[in-house]
Amino acid sequence: MRESLFCLLALLLSAGCQVGEAGNTEVLQNRNGKLVSFSHPQTECSQCHAQHVEEWEISNHAYAAKDPVFHAMVKAGQAQTEGKIGQFCVQCHSPVGLATEQTPVFFDEDLGVFQQETEDLDAVAQQGVSCDVCHSITDVIEPQNARMVLTPDGTKRGTIVDPVPTEAHQSSYSQLHTTSEVCGSCHAVTTPRGALAEETFSEWASSDAAKQGKTCQSCHMPEYIGQAAPDAPERTLHRHTFVGVDVSLLPPDEFPGYESMRELVRAMLESSAKLDMRMVASQNFEQRQERALEVTISNLTGHALPTGATAERQLWLEIIIKNSAGDIVFESGTLDAHGDIRDGIASHSSRPGTDPQLAYYGQYLIEDQILKSLTDPQEIEERKKALDQACDAIVQGGTNAPAEVKVVTFPWQANWQCNRMIAPDASSKHLFSLQELPAAKYSASLRLLFRTFPPYFLRELEEVGALDAAVKDRVPLVTVAQKEWAFQIGGDGFVLPGQTH
Ligand code: HEC
Ligand code: HEC
Ligand code: HEC
Ligand code: HEC
Ligand code: HEC
Repeated sequence: MRESLFCLLALLLSAGCQVGEAGNTEVLQNRNGKLVSFSHPQTECSQCHAQHVEEWEISNHAYAAKDPVFHAMVKAGQAQTEGKIGQFCVQCHSPVGLATEQTPVFFDEDLGVFQQETEDLDAVAQQGVSCDVCHSITDVIEPQNARMVLTPDGTKRGTIVDPVPTEAHQSSYSQLHTTSEVCGSCHAVTTPRGALAEETFSEWASSDAAKQGKTCQSCHMPEYIGQAAPDAPERTLHRHTFVGVDVSLLPPDEFPGYESMRELVRAMLESSAKLDMRMVASQNFEQRQERALEVTISNLTGHALPTGATAERQLWLEIIIKNSAGDIVFESGTLDAHGDIRDGIASHSSRPGTDPQLAYYGQYLIEDQILKSLTDPQEIEERKKALDQACDAIVQGGTNAPAEVKVVTFPWQANWQCNRMIAPDASSKHLFSLQELPAAKYSASLRLLFRTFPPYFLRELEEVGALDAAVKDRVPLVTVAQKEWAFQIGGDGFVLPGQTH
């Protein structure tokens, strides 16, 4: 690992590889006496790997350094932390930009704040997680925070055991590329202040999918039969669209695959969960019988649902019940005038706390003043446990929330988190109390909804990160699953079995 050409390491300096100096192409060429570089996918790979390039160029990996939300977050983050974020974000979003020192953090005299160059990158660094980033990975030191080793020496590492020789490059079989570890060092983010902002790798590691031998590639790089290059034999190949939940929020003509990626994401999300419901008469906490609708969401993915940047992801249940005159008599998960869900947090909604039965699955980032002041590792662990236990009160906002804990919007503001995702392989049950409904006939509709960003988050970025206001209108709202049915509440107070379809 040490003989590798350079290391790309997390935040801190580590064994001879400083983030600041890592990957200076000039230095590497001198040090090793041979050409070291990253190539441009379209101009240097597509003549032989056209299919791979066409798929990859609509993927979020190609979008990682072009993403307008990314640029706005870096702008806000560097200003708010006085440049302390340093090279943290670009490690994963433009490894080439970092390696070739195109992303300096500097003090902007005109604006009077710290900024970082992330937009004016050369044609290769703009490609984000490009072919050569993944196909140069030679080691993963730890599956988080970009702790991996890149060796961009021209050899392409992949999973073909007997690659046909080509003049274009050396090929080399890499067992690492068959594993989830090769994805893991980027798909797990612990912020400099200790918040677990993304935990996809460890969620997967604990899942049944992992035990059954399913890797990230099994679901995100499906197999097909084809030719990897014009004169190569037919083989089992792997899709490079890396479908997840994100889509380009740039204007449709500024990033390829605007519509096709939206289609692929919709299909992926529809495969992510199973929705079941039934009417129940449950015991409430005063041991009274209570009519309720029990909704069960089963997580069918290989990690939490949602996963990844869960503080922004929104998965929630919308339920609307109407009486026979068509008037809405019960609703939850419906939006406020700005399009935000009505949870308990004042900065999220114009009507906070007006949806007490809300079923929301995602993450709340928090900043705790007590945790901030602790240095003893054991005390820190104990405080984190106490915070986990206080999460119900914290996410409800209101007066029961501990005064020293604040729900924050951005990852660099947080030092811990309250997770409300559905764990891998788990089912989440939610009870909507229908106790207030009088005896009558009703029609109901239930939807499991998903979107990548809440409007409040993007509005805040318009203010502090100069995000284009048109971006929020391009965020799709996806119906993951839905049910409609009719039911009747009898005079004796019991729910008659309704019809569901
Ligand atoms: C002149 C044609 C040509 C060009 C240009 C080319 N390749 Fe290849 N590449 C091949 C051939 C041929 C194979 C072997 C395919 C096979 O055996 O099925 C291959 C195999 C690979 C493999 C698999 C290696 C393994 O052992 O698993 C990777 C990864 C790869 N190329 C990446 C790239 C990237 C990235 C670029 C652009 C920087 C590129 N190639 C440019 C022809 C080319
Ligand atoms: C059993 C199939 C399966 C496996 C295994 C799996 N995923 Fe997923 N993944 C999905 C599905 C379905 C979705 C869409 C629903 C969701 O967001 O969770 C998804 C979504 C994602 C997303 C977008 C998440 C979001 O909500 O923002 C990322 C990132 C991701 N997966 C990465 C990974 C990585 C990295 C691994 C391996 C460590 C992995 N996945 C393993 C099925 C899988
Ligand atoms: C996010 C990481 C990642 C990126 C980006 C990426 N690849 Fe791959 N690629 C892989 C992995 C992992 C495999 C092996 C998958 C497996 O065996 O399960 C692979 C396989 C391949 C193969 C072997 C044939 C096949 O389909 O299995 C070729 C050729 C290839 N990639 C070319 C490219 C090119 C060209 C690009 C850029 C346009 C690219 N890759 C971008 C991770 C990546
Ligand atoms: C060098 C870091 C890096 C590596 C290695 C990497 N990824 Fe990613 N991946 C990212 C980044 C950054 C994004 C998000 C880009 C954005 O939307 O701004 C992403 C996005 C994704 C998404 C789309 C998520 C969504 O919300 O739609 C999937 C799926 C995914 N990666 C799967 C994989 C798999 C599978 C592998 C391993 C074969 C892998 N990644 C390896 C950095 C990486
Ligand atoms: C260790 C690697 C890594 C680091 C460091 C990292 N990211 Fe990411 N980022 C990812 C991956 C992987 C995804 C895809 C996860 C998903 O789609 O849910 C992602 C997704 C994103 C997205 C698109 C999805 C979303 O919900 O926001 C933005 C914007 C983003 N990151 C901004 C940042 C910023 C700003 C920083 C620095 C404060 C940062 N990232 C640091 C790996 C990283």
